[in-house]
Parts: sequence; C-alpha cells; structure tokens
Amino acid sequence: MRVAVAGSSGFIGTALVAGLESAGHEVIRLVRHAPAAANEAQWDPEQGAVPLARLAGVEAVVHLGGINVGARRWTRRFKKQLHHSRIRSTTVLASALTGLATRPRVFVCASAMGYYGPDRGRELLDEESGPGDGFLARLCQDWEHAAAPASAADIAVCHPRFGLVVGPGGGALKPLLPLFRLGLGGHFGNGEQFWSPVSLHDCVRALRFLVEQHGCVGPYNVTAPEPVTNGEFSRLLAAELHRPRLLPVPGFALQLAVGEASSELLGSLRIVPTRLGEAGFEFDHPDARAIIRAAL
Ligand SMILES: NC(=O)c1ccc[n+]([C@@H]2O[C@H](COP(=O)([O-])OP(=O)(O)OC[C@H]3O[C@@H](n4cnc5c(N)ncnc54)[C@H](OP(=O)(O)O)[C@@H]3O)[C@@H](O)[C@H]2O)c1
Repeated sequence: MRVAVAGSSGFIGTALVAGLESAGHEVIRLVRHAPAAANEAQWDPEQGAVPLARLAGVEAVVHLGGINVGARRWTRRFKKQLHHSRIRSTTVLASALTGLATRPRVFVCASAMGYYGPDRGRELLDEESGPGDGFLARLCQDWEHAAAPASAADIAVCHPRFGLVVGPGGGALKPLLPLFRLGLGGHFGNGEQFWSPVSLHDCVRALRFLVEQHGCVGPYNVTAPEPVTNGEFSRLLAAELHRPRLLPVPGFALQLAVGEASSELLGSLRIVPTRLGEAGFEFDHPDARAIIRAAL
C-alpha cells in the first residue's frame, strides 16, 4: 500500500515510517524542507502547498505534525503556536486530499489524551467520554474538527488519541530517565493520579492497524489497557533500573518549574482503549511493567 506520512521526522513518525516500510508498504514522507531523498515530498502548511502529484495512488495518509508540546514553557504566545501548527496543517492537508482524483481511503490524524482535560480523577475514560476543560482539551477538539473536510469527502478519518508514548530515545521517559538513573526520581505530587501510557511499539502497531484495517473511523484511544498511578509507574521504573525511588517531586515545584504544562504530569487521566479492543487490536505491552521493560 502507498502511505503518506506528515510529521514523519518526530518520535512517533520515525518509528512509524520504519514500521510501515518493514511491513512492505511504500511510504511518502511529507516534509517541510527541500526533499533530500526519493521518498520525500515537500509540503508547506503555512502557504497551503501540498504536492498532490506525489500523493497520487496513496491509500492512506497519516498526519502527526505539530510543534512539540513540551518544547517550551506554555506562554500565551507558545500556546497559540501549538494550536496554529496543528489546526493549520490539518486543515490544509484534509482539504487538499479532497482534490485528489482518487481520494485516499483513510486519513489518520493525531490527537491526544489531552482531549479529556487535565484531570478526571478516577473516572474511567473511553472514546464515548465527553471532552474536558482547559487548553489541551480545546486544542484537541479543534484539531479533530480540523479534519472535517476529509470526512465530508467520504474519507474515513481516524483520530488516534495518544496517551503518554513511552519508548527508547524520547517521549515521556526522556526527562525522567536521567533522574531515575541517578536514584533521584520519585513520584509527582501525591502520586495517586492516573497515567495512561502506551509503548512506542504498540503505538506504531495501532497506527498501522488503523491504516491497514478497512472500516476504522472516528476516535481511538491509543493507551495501554491498564492505566497506572504515577506512584506505581515510578516504583516500577525505579525497580527496573535497580535504583531506590527517592524524593517525590511536590506539585508546587513542578508548577514552578514547567508552569501550566505540569497539569500533564499532575492531572489524573484513566483512559482505556475500548474502540481498538472492539476492532480486534491486541496490545503486546498491556501494562506499565511491560511498557517500561520494552523502553529500557
Ligand atoms: N509522544 C507523545 O507522548 C504524544 C502524546 C500525545 C499526543 N502526541 C501527538 O502526536 C504527534 C506526534 O508526536 P511526536 O511525539 O512524534 O512529536 P514530535 O517528536 O514533536 O514530532 C512532531 C513532528 O511535527 C512536525 N512539525 C514540527 N513543527 C511543525 C509545524 N509548525 N507545523 C507542522 N508540522 C510540524 C515535525 O516533523 P517534520 O519536520 O517532518 O514536518 C516533527 O517531527 C504530535 O502532534 C503530538 O502532539 C504525542
């Protein structure tokens, strides 16, 4: 199958391209720089330029692009950039796909667990749960809505709502590992908040599933079936690294250090991947221990 991927140079995109290619798919990488390889085609979300000729015959398009949420402190200006980079690029791509002589069967456009808000306590959240409040929840709703031109043209639009993606070389473990390796890591706040992680390996498998299976459409939580408290996650990580788990990080210190983005670490989101399960997807790493082991 021919598959186009935007945002392919990132943490998930790099692994996805490798996963698609090793499964025998032909991948066109939509890149924002001048193409440097035969499988790259340039697009410019700001100018609304999409290389339609290179997308001929593409059966699936995956869009993972957007400025990294953890790149900077969430000032008002940065929040605008986070929002704009996702909504603009999604609108441009979704609209462009409708102009292809043969439209792709499926458009898989990233979303995030932030859809459910910063903090939902112990509530079990599946795809039927309503959106939450706050910046990320509004961003994710706008992001999902931005793909509407593709749905209106009968392209099956899937919104993978990623949890904390944990894998080697980046993602959620990147800032934690150096501290835990030094024996300095501990839980955040009171540690009772739920985290909904997923291994990078299963994240890529889930994206491939949405691309390959006919009939998938709508939101899909991409989180392991067993959410875990932050305290338990920290305990498992310290144990796997054979380090004592020391120094819990108080909530106010995190707020001081990273500002509003601390809500991602201190808030409780207990998410389950109901729709992936119903569609027949099985996780290789269903719980935090397996996820951490795979990443280490
Ligand atoms: N990793 C996680 O735990 C996680 C959790 C929830 C949601 N997500 C979402 O899933 C998507 C992929 O995550 P990731 O961890 O792979 O992100 P990432 O490593 O930050 O990569 C995102 C990619 O987006 C592209 N990009 C950067 N700035 C852009 C802009 N202004 N306009 C359009 N594209 C831009 C870049 O690719 P090019 O330079 O090739 O265009 C970049 O490599 C992101 O949208 C992220 O918000 C990730």
